[in-house]
Amino acid sequence: MADLGMRRALLAVVCVAFLFAVPGAEPHAGAGGSLPVRPAATPPMGWNSWNSFGCSIDENKVHAAADALVSSGMRDAGYRYVVVDDCWFSPQRDSSGELRANPDRFPHGMAALGEYLHARGLRFGLYMSPNLRTCAQVAGDYPGNTGSGGHERTDAREFASWGVDYLKYDWCHGASPLPDVRAAFTTMRDALAATGRPVLYSINPNSNHPGEPGENEDWRGVAHMVRTTEDIEPLWFGGNHNAEPMGVRDIIDVNAALAHRAGPGHWNDPDMLEVGVSGGGYPGLSADEARTHLSMWAMMAAPLIAGNEPAQMSPAERDLLTRREVLAVDQDPLGRPARRVVDGDQQVWVRPLREGTAVALYNRGDQPAEIGTSLAGLGLPAGQRRVHDLWQPREWTTGGAISAAVPAHGTVLLRLDPA
Ligand code: GAL
Repeated sequence: MADLGMRRALLAVVCVAFLFAVPGAEPHAGAGGSLPVRPAATPPMGWNSWNSFGCSIDENKVHAAADALVSSGMRDAGYRYVVVDDCWFSPQRDSSGELRANPDRFPHGMAALGEYLHARGLRFGLYMSPNLRTCAQVAGDYPGNTGSGGHERTDAREFASWGVDYLKYDWCHGASPLPDVRAAFTTMRDALAATGRPVLYSINPNSNHPGEPGENEDWRGVAHMVRTTEDIEPLWFGGNHNAEPMGVRDIIDVNAALAHRAGPGHWNDPDMLEVGVSGGGYPGLSADEARTHLSMWAMMAAPLIAGNEPAQMSPAERDLLTRREVLAVDQDPLGRPARRVVDGDQQVWVRPLREGTAVALYNRGDQPAEIGTSLAGLGLPAGQRRVHDLWQPREWTTGGAISAAVPAHGTVLLRLDPA
């Protein structure tokens, strides 16, 4: 008996030691999930091929984008993930059921692409879908049936063996019962975890799924970042709530209500950046709209995934995308997104930072306006504050009132510190 007691005690010690030793003992993202926080402790930053290249992507274009991320300083500003979106794969799986790179587009294969990116201090992202087809295949823009449905373990192992650090996993399958959608996304989450490689998991439960489950469902614990809206386009206002075409203003309207879900390990994804993107019959963004885009994505603690063509970017575009004071708000280690404290056409948002507070005076309206608030209106204790304008080289001191002239569709982004 004494022997049995000893063995039990020993077993208990071993179990406790195991609990603390395995990666499962790390903090996890959201209730009920088995998703380590670490790859997404702050909102992911990178570049994705879709907004500029759509389905016509190849190795040369990805190399050029990667090289330009390095030479322009974007990588050093934080844009590290290079995500190859739809249309990178051979239209059919090989005879053993494995995915292959499209040999005409990526003649050196995906493992070689991973090595190219890693050698430049970048990280490697790929796109795939949980059903029979990817979104471009569903739309008829690309041949074949390569979705990961039923192949999750094989595909996850293959991605890990290629050095993939980020998977964008896109529903694109029309209306389906929500439990099925959850099961599909959870299956790939678990298949990625089983590879032992830390892979940042980005899902889009929205595309072609009426009911916008990215907006209506809480995906904490399932993925590190979750699309909350339909696809963004390079425009200010589409006017259809969460339906295409969506512009910067529409997306802020939808995402504003979801702040309570965002935090370390789980971020609302209001889609990629359209700074420097034009075409598709859309007008593109004015300079003020582009600043609002970056300012409000930073306030919302959104992933910053550039969608421009880095090899062709203008100095103005680069300056916008790499504005360190603004990126620091997005990447603040406290990981608390902003709250909107004044709604309407002249909005006020406040975001607590690890040190200090970020404030956005956001003019959603079509006329220039003076937007004002106060420390009390922001929920801050009385006292003297230094106010820094994060887009202009100006600062001042206030003991209460804060206000600024804001152009139509523009945003004045401020940081408040104790004076
Ligand atoms: C859409 C998705 C886009 C892009 C595209 C690829 O569903 O929202 O961001 O990935 O599929 O076909």
